[in-house]
Amino acid sequence: MPSSSHPPAASRSSPLLHPVVMKGIARTYRLDSVDVPALSGINLVILPNRFTVISGPSGSGKTTLLNLIGCIDRPDAGTLMVGGKPVQTMPHDQLSDFRARQLGFVFQNFNLLPVLTAFENVEYPLILAGMPVDKRRKRVAKLLEAVGLADHGRKRPGQLSGGQRQRVAVARALARKPQLVLADEPTANLDSKTGSDIIELMRHMQQRHRVAFIFSSHDPKVIEAADDVVYIHDGRITAIERRLAWVEPTA
Ligand SMILES: Nc1ncnc2c1ncn2[C@@H]1O[C@H](COP(=O)(O)OP(=O)(O)OP(=O)(O)O)[C@@H](O)[C@H]1O
Ligand SMILES: [Mg+2]
Repeated sequence: MPSSSHPPAASRSSPLLHPVVMKGIARTYRLDSVDVPALSGINLVILPNRFTVISGPSGSGKTTLLNLIGCIDRPDAGTLMVGGKPVQTMPHDQLSDFRARQLGFVFQNFNLLPVLTAFENVEYPLILAGMPVDKRRKRVAKLLEAVGLADHGRKRPGQLSGGQRQRVAVARALARKPQLVLADEPTANLDSKTGSDIIELMRHMQQRHRVAFIFSSHDPKVIEAADDVVYIHDGRITAIERRLAWVEPTA
């Protein structure tokens, strides 16, 4: 049975533990001087080390919600904590740094740099982070192996299939060991079998790296694979289904 949209009592006491805590969040777009309310009254806690899916019909506000969590956009009202930080009030340069360190992104259309090889695409965030060359090459090789692309590192995105590109994107998203990976409909441009393989890979990587994954998806297979499902309709959360019990860590 879906529970209410309020966070479980145990998690309310410790917002710093949680990758995302939203209270009374609203976001309204202004289009040709007309207000388009995209989200309102959003209260949401995303638990650590979980695979959470945001599900809802087209136009319900999934991308808007992920953009707020990903610190790509800011809310108009309410409070938002990501990774225990009040990101809403963070200055722009600090926010970019926070995003690069703590968040990984997987996009519907892969968003790989076409002139770089698969290896270089995964390596790029580590170069930006200033990681020494030996360490970063080892890390990239390990990640490419983990996503099943050990033999494809020299290929450019144009020489890879859609599923392989998305595997590179997953490896890149995890390169800096983020605490949270966000994916906006990551299987939408893949056929059903490839989409299932990617979900299985993400599930495996989420558990192996002990990171929180948040997806938006209409795909029943993605919803089925989730630990927690957040249902959204017309910019409001209608239910939160938590399929695993939450035990507050004692440490
Ligand atoms: N930049 C924008 N300017 C104005 N309105 C917008 C903008 N982006 C989204 N909207 C509106 O906000 C609402 C929520 O859009 P959003 O893209 O978050 O939905 P979604 O659930 O991701 O949909 P989809 O499943 O089609 O991707 C919609 O009514 C949409 O038209
Ligand atoms: Mg969307």
